[in-house]
Amino acid sequence: MNAKILTAEFQRQLEGAKQHFGPDVLVFEDCIDQKGAHPEDYRNFETGFAAAAIDRRVAPGARMLDIGSNRLFIAGLSARQRITTVDVRPRAFKCTNEELLSADSKKLPLPDSSFDAVVSLNAIEHFGLGRYGEELDLDGDRKAFAEWRRVLRPGGHIIFSTTVNSAGPAVAFNAHRVYSLAQIHALCAGFTPVEEAFFSHHFGACATLADLKSTPGKWDLYAGVWQRPA
Ligand SMILES: C[S@@+](CC[C@H](N)C(=O)[O-])C[C@H]1O[C@@H](n2cnc3c(N)ncnc32)[C@H](O)[C@@H]1O
Repeated sequence: MNAKILTAEFQRQLEGAKQHFGPDVLVFEDCIDQKGAHPEDYRNFETGFAAAAIDRRVAPGARMLDIGSNRLFIAGLSARQRITTVDVRPRAFKCTNEELLSADSKKLPLPDSSFDAVVSLNAIEHFGLGRYGEELDLDGDRKAFAEWRRVLRPGGHIIFSTTVNSAGPAVAFNAHRVYSLAQIHALCAGFTPVEEAFFSHHFGACATLADLKSTPGKWDLYAGVWQRPA
């Protein structure tokens, strides 16, 4: 039980609320003490990064593909922008301007060079590990990235985030991989780096990989924009 519930001050406030609203007032233990600064969250970081990158690099009306990103991000983006979204798990709810595809990112049922930008936030590290019911394929991340390259037009951008650790790579089976920066760069080989940023769960936004001071085996966040040569 949350210790705050037992304090005389909280009980006095609760009694006052019952007198005001009626005797059936509920108490949600997890929500009774959330004062102070807003907690920083990697999703705020990655969606802010991606939104700014899209604003800078992707023209209005461009053909966009998303793979497995946060749905709040998709809801905001698709309010203004047509977007095709892919997820291996079927989904019933479709946003405005969204074309939903249930597919494995390793085998995209999409033509070559058919998108101006590919976006994927915090998803590739899971691919092929079986967590989401997809076929087990331990090279699923590399195969998926090859598919992103294939469907992107020359000169187009891949905007993505994933796990990173400044202390070296790890795998938490079957949850996710944790990449070294060298592994991320190897995935992107042949493309041109345009922007990179890092987020630490402890320190917030970081300028460099070294600033993350990652705990071995845990993940921090990498976000990058890479351009296919024209
Ligand atoms: C951790 S979730 C992404 C969550 C999201 N980034 C967020 O922050 O809310 C990873 C997503 O990738 C999808 N996924 C996993 N393997 C996939 C695959 N092989 N192809 C396409 N989507 C896949 C999962 O169904 C899941 O929705």
